Amino acid sequence: MRVSITLVSLFFLNICNAKTDSVVLVVADVIRAMEKPSTVVATLCWQTNKKVDFYNAVTSSNDRSRVATARLVDMKYVKRDYGQDQHIVFVADLSCPNISDYFDMKKEEQYFRSPFRWILISRNENDDIVPNEISHIDLLPDSEVIVLRQVGDDSYDLHFIYKISPGSYWRTQFYGTWNHEKRFVKSNQQIVESTALQRLDLLGYEMSICYVLTDKDSINHLTDEVNDHIDTITKVNFPTTNHLLDFLNATRKFIFADTWGYRVNGSWNGMTGYLLREEVEIGGSPMFFTSERISVVDYIASPTPTRSKFVFQQPKLSYENNLFLLSFRTSVWYSSAGLIFLLLLALFAVAAWEWKKNAHDIYRKEDSGTLRASFDDVIILIFGAICQQGSPVELKGSLGRVVMLILFLALMFLYTSYSANIVALLQSSSSQIRTLDDLLHSRLKFGVHDTVFNRYYFSTATEPVRKAIYEKKVAPPGTTPRFMSMEEGVKKMRKGLFAFHMETGVGYKFVGKYFNEGEKCGLREIQYLQVIDPWLAVRKNTPYKEMFKIGMKRIQEHGLQARENRLLYEKRPKCSGRESNFVSVSMVDCYPALLILSYGCLVSVIFLVFEYLFHQKQTIIQKLTHCNRVKTSRSAFTN
Ligand SMILES: *[C@@H]1O[C@H](CO)[C@@H](O)[C@H](O)[C@H]1NC(C)=O
Ligand SMILES: *[C@@H]1O[C@H](CO)[C@@H](O)[C@H](O)[C@H]1NC(C)=O
Ligand SMILES: *[C@@H]1O[C@H](CO)[C@@H](O)[C@H](O)[C@H]1NC(C)=O
Repeated sequence: MRVSITLVSLFFLNICNAKTDSVVLVVADVIRAMEKPSTVVATLCWQTNKKVDFYNAVTSSNDRSRVATARLVDMKYVKRDYGQDQHIVFVADLSCPNISDYFDMKKEEQYFRSPFRWILISRNENDDIVPNEISHIDLLPDSEVIVLRQVGDDSYDLHFIYKISPGSYWRTQFYGTWNHEKRFVKSNQQIVESTALQRLDLLGYEMSICYVLTDKDSINHLTDEVNDHIDTITKVNFPTTNHLLDFLNATRKFIFADTWGYRVNGSWNGMTGYLLREEVEIGGSPMFFTSERISVVDYIASPTPTRSKFVFQQPKLSYENNLFLLSFRTSVWYSSAGLIFLLLLALFAVAAWEWKKNAHDIYRKEDSGTLRASFDDVIILIFGAICQQGSPVELKGSLGRVVMLILFLALMFLYTSYSANIVALLQSSSSQIRTLDDLLHSRLKFGVHDTVFNRYYFSTATEPVRKAIYEKKVAPPGTTPRFMSMEEGVKKMRKGLFAFHMETGVGYKFVGKYFNEGEKCGLREIQYLQVIDPWLAVRKNTPYKEMFKIGMKRIQEHGLQARENRLLYEKRPKCSGRESNFVSVSMVDCYPALLILSYGCLVSVIFLVFEYLFHQKQTIIQKLTHCNRVKTSRSAFTN
């Protein structure tokens, strides 16, 4: 701040200074030509009036929206926040004493990388393009360092300098020239493209790339589609990450890890460990985007949309409900009961009336085919009608016949719609399991595909429902946890009443293999893991990040990624021919009916026993009375 205040006061003193040094104009023109908002941080060991000229030239602009701000700082001045990173342009004069130390310091502070920009002013005409002062520092492809070199009176040329990799030789890119008449002229190539695009050719630099293989044999089958249900995510991305390295003209060194990497005892293992220790530049197997990992790696793209979910066949309706009650709504049940009760009353009233009217008819009393006006008889008749049985008794009068007709007609319609509903319900599946919570409280058994990440995320779940699922269903204490192979899980799923946690894209291949057409219809998915699609990760601060991003985007736009995804990942099977699928009726469906039948049998046997006993009692009594009568008559006779 102090510097700028001094500058402002000096500005007015020097206002009529004669000729401005051309290098000041060059820097100002170059910054303007970048066409970005700029905050200039300049380290210049110049005369004060020249600094003022510089300040003046840089901050003056015709275009108000692109006005630059400038700050002149001392070499030892350490301040981290200069403003927004992408606005910062460092300007340094190489002729300053001990400027190398300053560069070392800035390298240490990670300022020689994207998005910071640098302009180095070299006044010595004999210098190489790459100045000695900075030649010991590795400026990697993501740095944007322009060396401004004086090549004659009032004429300059500008070059980008960078190295492809630490320790490789310097590469230069012509950026433009400046002379007094034409001012700054950019080279043609530089007009539109970003630096990352111009530096895509890494000239065979050996890039380390890490893949996750959970099975030892997978290394032999990365591209030949053998066993492609194992380590699918790696096999899908192996070709595309290789395209990426081809795109960058890089050679490659493969490193294989057996897990994606989790924090264990404070350190990271697996692929994340390799990325964190900077042993590899890019992780070739996409991994889950977790908040823990974001702090140690950079994610660049999500190449393969795939999720792991619980998949299960919707259980039959009868597993959760009693079909025999379900076919009518409650109101219909009540109305039917009301109707039957009304008919019962009517029938009873008519019967009573008929009997009263025909009281004088003696034949009627002997006719067993006539309905007696007693509640027991009427109830038994109605019961028979409900069960669609006939009745041995009837009413003889025309009123009675009409009531009987209405009774049988109404009950026949009720019976028809009831049985039709039951047939429909037998074929339908329950849709009551919609959330993890429903799943937890259902009668389904559970299985989980045995992968590193499933084992990790299931055992570390903290959310109550998920934790309960793991502790009660997947790994109940005292049993072996239900982790199993994909094949076993899908086969169990087919048998029903089994929820299997699998990567859906891979699992549906097995579903296609083992399931009948109709069985594919009732599949439901419920997500358990709280993660989004896996992403490709690169080393934090890798200088090739921008190139990787551009490359991955191109690979996706050109459909190469989609091709690989489609080859190895199956979409959810389409449901065709639900009609042709006939669900056979099982014990579970008839369970309530069987229950009623068996209770009925039991009750009837009990009745039979009682009836028999009652009959015995009656016979005994009869015999006794008979004996008594004989005795009395005999005694009367003897007397
Ligand atoms: C340059 O560095 C040397 C040794 O590190 C030191 O003695 C000297 O004072 C420095 N000069 C300036 C101008 O900082
Ligand atoms: C790729 O790199 C090699 C060096 O390994 C180089 O000879 C070749 O020209 C580069 N290819 C392209 C297309 O630039
Ligand atoms: C983590 O630390 C515990 C105790 O210090 C040790 O028993 C365990 O083996 C360690 N785990 C790993 C993976 O190193």
